[in-house]
Amino acid sequence: MMVKSCCSMCLCLVLLHILLCFLPTQSAPESAIVTQVPGFSGSLPSKHYAGYVTVDESHGRNLYYYFVESESKPSEDPVVLWLNGGPGCSSFDGFVYEHGPFNFEAAKTKGDLPTLHVNPYSWSKVSSIIYLDSPAGVGFSYSENLTDYFTGDTKTATDSHTFLLKWFELYPEFRSNPFFIAGESYAGVYVPTLAYEVVKGIDAGVEPKLNFKGYMVGNGVTDDQFDGNALVPFVHGMGIISDDLFEEVNRECNGNFYNPTSDNCSSKLSKVDELVDELNIYNILEPCYHGTEAEKITESYIKMPSSFRKLGETERPFPVRKRMFGRAWPLRAPVRDGIVPTWPQLLKASPPCTDDVVATTWLNNEAVRTAIHAAQKSLVSSWELCTDRLSFDHDTGSMIKYHKNLTSKGYRALIFSGDHDMCVPFTGSQAWTRSMGYKIVDEWRPWSSNGQVAGYTQGYDKNFTFLTVKGSGHTVPEYKPREALDFYTRFLAGLPI
Ligand SMILES: *[C@@H]1O[C@H](CO)[C@@H](O)[C@H](O)[C@H]1NC(C)=O
Ligand SMILES: *[C@@H]1O[C@H](CO)[C@@H](O)[C@H](O)[C@H]1NC(C)=O
Ligand SMILES: *[C@@H]1O[C@H](CO)[C@@H](O)[C@H](O)[C@H]1NC(C)=O
Ligand SMILES: *[C@@H]1O[C@H](CO)[C@@H](O)[C@H](O)[C@H]1NC(C)=O
Repeated sequence: MMVKSCCSMCLCLVLLHILLCFLPTQSAPESAIVTQVPGFSGSLPSKHYAGYVTVDESHGRNLYYYFVESESKPSEDPVVLWLNGGPGCSSFDGFVYEHGPFNFEAAKTKGDLPTLHVNPYSWSKVSSIIYLDSPAGVGFSYSENLTDYFTGDTKTATDSHTFLLKWFELYPEFRSNPFFIAGESYAGVYVPTLAYEVVKGIDAGVEPKLNFKGYMVGNGVTDDQFDGNALVPFVHGMGIISDDLFEEVNRECNGNFYNPTSDNCSSKLSKVDELVDELNIYNILEPCYHGTEAEKITESYIKMPSSFRKLGETERPFPVRKRMFGRAWPLRAPVRDGIVPTWPQLLKASPPCTDDVVATTWLNNEAVRTAIHAAQKSLVSSWELCTDRLSFDHDTGSMIKYHKNLTSKGYRALIFSGDHDMCVPFTGSQAWTRSMGYKIVDEWRPWSSNGQVAGYTQGYDKNFTFLTVKGSGHTVPEYKPREALDFYTRFLAGLPI
C-alpha cells in the first residue's frame, strides 16, 4: 500500500514535470501591464508592469511593485530590485527622483499633473528594475491586519524574500537573468539582510532558484559605531568646523563621537551640531529650503562660490530637491538597535515636504493610480513619500557580518557614496569597508565618467568595491545621473569601474 501510493505519487510528479516542461513558457501577467502613464505622451520606452504580490494570505499583507523592463535587451539584461530606505519610505523615490524611466517636470499650476519626459540616464537603459514598496505600510503596500505595521529588519527581509520568490513565479522569463539587489540609505540594512535570506534560500534549494549575483548600497546605514563616528571627520575635512574644535572634540571624546561618555565631550559635540545645523544634511552644497518662494533658493544658490556651484551641478534638467525629510534618520539620532524613529515621528508632525510635491501630486492622482494598478483609496489612502505608520525595530545589528558572509560566498558588492552627503557621510562607509580587512586589489584611484574624474574608488579582494561620487549628495542618481548610470552599467557588467 505504502509502496504503491508512493510510486503513483512519483508517477504523478513525473507526468506533472513532463507536462510543465512542454507547456509554453508562462510569462508576465497580462493584467499587470501598464499601457500608459498620465503626464507622458507617446509610447513607453519599454514594457512596464505593476501590481501586488500577496506575501501573507491570512493577514492580507500585500507588497506593491512597479517593474520597468530594460530598454535594451530585456531577455539578457540583469534584473535589479531597488529599495529606498527610511525606514518607511517608498521606492517611488527612486522611480520619480533618481533613476526611473522619466524626468518629472512640475506643472506651473499647483495640483496639476507634472509632465513626464524620457530620462536619458534611466537605469532601465541597461537593466530591468523592480521598484518595491517595502515593508507593508509603505507607499502603496499595505496589510489588512494592522498588527503588521509593528515590524522590523527581520520581518522586512523575509517578506521581501517571499515577494521575490512569488514575483519570479509570475515572471518566469526573467528567472535566468542575472539578479541584483540595490538600495540606499536605510536600505543599507534592507539590502544585505534580504540578500542573506536570498542566499540561504538558494543554498537550501528553495524554488524558484534566484540567479543572484550581487548587490549595491548607496550612502547606506551599516553600523552604529562607524556611522556614528563619521560626522566629525567629515565636517572637519569639509571645512565646516575649525581645526581647534576638531582637536578639542577629539581630545574630549577620544574618537568616540557616537556615544559620548562625558559632559565635556557632549558639550564639544553640541558645538559641532550648532555649526552644521543650518546646512542641508543631504547635500552640504545645496541650499537649505526655508520657505516656499523659489527666489530665496535661487538667491542663496547664486551666492555660493562658483567652484562650489560647479561641484553641485547636475545634469538633471529639473531642480533637485532642496529638502528631503524622511529618507533617513536625523543626524543626532543615529540608528541603533531597537525602534528607529522616523522623521515625522520625531518632529511630531508631517513637515511640509514642499519638494516632494511632484511625486505626491502624481501618485495621488486618480488616473495615475488606476493606470499603475495601485489599490483603491479605501485600502491605501494617500501615497506618502515616507510614512509614520510603522513602528520599526532595527533588530539585526551591524551589517558588517552580513557583508562578510555574502562576499565570502562569491557575491559581488559595490558600496557607493555621494561624498557631500552629511546624513550617511562617506567617511563612515570608507572606514567600515576598509575594516573588513580584505586585501586591496585596486588601490585608491580616480574613476571617470564622460572624460572627467567622477569620484574615487578602492577595490578589494572578493569583488568588494568602495566608490565615491564627487559632488553628490545622499541620493546619488538624483544629483549625478550620468555618473551613476556609468558606474551602475560597469558594475552590472562585471567591468572595472
Ligand atoms: C492580526 O494578526 C494578529 C497576529 O498574527 C492576530 O493575533 C490577529 O487575530 C489578527 N487580526 C485579525 C483581525 O485577523
Ligand atoms: C572638562 O572641562 C573643564 C573646562 O575646560 C575642565 O576644567 C575639566 O577638567 C574637564 N573635565 C574632564 C573630566 O576632563
Ligand atoms: C554565512 O551564513 C550561513 C547561514 O547562517 C552560514 O551557514 C555560513 O557559515 C556563513 N558563511 C560565512 C562564510 O560566514
Ligand atoms: C569576481 O567576479 C567575477 C565576475 O562575476 C568572477 O569571474 C571572479 O571570479 C570574481 N573574483 C573573485 C575574487 O571572487
